[in-house]
Amino acid sequence: MKPKKQIRVGMVGYRLMGRAHSHAYRDFPFYFDTDTIPVLQAIAGRNEKAVQIAADKMGWASVETDWRRLIERDDIDLIDIVTPNDTHAEIAIAAAEVGKHVFCEKPLAMSLEQAKRMLEAVNKAGVIHMICHNYRFAPAVQFAKQLIEEGRLGKIYHIRATFLQDWLMDPHFPLIWRLRKEVSGGGTLGDLGAHIIDLARFLVGEFSEVAGMMETFIKKRPIGSMTDHLKGRIESDEWGEVTVDDAAVFIARFKNGALGTFESSRFSKGNRAGNRFEINGEKGSIRWDMENLNNLQVYLDDEPGLQGFRTIHCTEEEHPYAAAYWPAGHIIGYEHTFINIVSELMNGISKGYNPKPDFEDGVRNQAVLEAVEESVKTRSWVKVSEAIHD
Ligand SMILES: NC(=O)c1ccc[n+]([C@@H]2O[C@H](COP(=O)([O-])OP(=O)(O)OC[C@H]3O[C@@H](n4cnc5c(N)ncnc54)[C@H](O)[C@@H]3O)[C@@H](O)[C@H]2O)c1
Repeated sequence: MKPKKQIRVGMVGYRLMGRAHSHAYRDFPFYFDTDTIPVLQAIAGRNEKAVQIAADKMGWASVETDWRRLIERDDIDLIDIVTPNDTHAEIAIAAAEVGKHVFCEKPLAMSLEQAKRMLEAVNKAGVIHMICHNYRFAPAVQFAKQLIEEGRLGKIYHIRATFLQDWLMDPHFPLIWRLRKEVSGGGTLGDLGAHIIDLARFLVGEFSEVAGMMETFIKKRPIGSMTDHLKGRIESDEWGEVTVDDAAVFIARFKNGALGTFESSRFSKGNRAGNRFEINGEKGSIRWDMENLNNLQVYLDDEPGLQGFRTIHCTEEEHPYAAAYWPAGHIIGYEHTFINIVSELMNGISKGYNPKPDFEDGVRNQAVLEAVEESVKTRSWVKVSEAIHD
């Protein structure tokens, strides 16, 4: 038997996304027929004891307490960045400069300018790069893309997308990194909005202009940090200012003439992860809801008298990625979106092509984020920058 190619991964950070990515590397060769195996070579974190506990639990072979040492190691091929947003650019650029492939969490950067520098660095180094917009890789979302590309919906007129959560509505929830602009770069817009912007670009096309508004409902919170499962821990009697939005709403025009409405919020009671979209075209519509991610609701103008939204359970072997898992009707979940994106990443590295979404998508998504912020500031419509290089 031909020996399998090994891609040795070094991951920076190890909490929420660290778990999701670690699991994906471990399970990918279990489900997919592949000649490429990710090796969980090393993880980096700042606290030696905590990073060792994480490594033992998630199956990583070694640890580093400084990401710089991780990227310099000769036994690492791919750097995976699952740290807060203010660290992405520095780590990604340094990793590319020493010839490592880079897989980076979203949003790519703190600003459009920074995102462009990251794209330049990976292009210059000629390494493979990918941004982790995992929701593209739910089979139902891939199937939606297929239907749109086949023209089954005809010309697209509308997308309305939301990503709604409610986990920090308690005014005593601490001031975690996600609420500090200097670490996160933005609030719900960059965190949740980035995903629905990416889905819209994937399914509908490029944005042309946007107009938005934002609000910070709770302006001050006790100082603290994140623990597991989007929970926080208060660490001080002091309170600090929330410097990002709690909710962001914007409308958009697409280059192909479609109109979009977008809403991201952490103040939508009862919505735990309300990542949903509806797309309307001249011949049909589709709806998806990540809390029910195997299903795609489809309306097609095809059978008079029987028209109506039907629910397609995207677990048949005809549906993208579904055949890798279980018999029809046997559902998959959130973690499988990461396994599917990792399958693309491994294929890309092994065969030497850049899988999508890549840093160019990261730059284009960042351009939309920046245009929305500008629009909020100036209370006006703002054109989305088309330049992917300065
Ligand atoms: N794709 C998705 O669906 C999704 C979901 C959640 C978060 N994210 C993104 O993933 C990234 C991480 O988010 P998270 O929820 O896992 O955060 P988290 O707070 O759960 O974990 C962050 C990790 O980074 C480490 N860290 C923090 N600062 C560091 C530094 N300066 N150097 C080295 N390590 C450092 C922490 O110790 C921790 O292990 C963010 O960019 C976030 O936007 C993506």
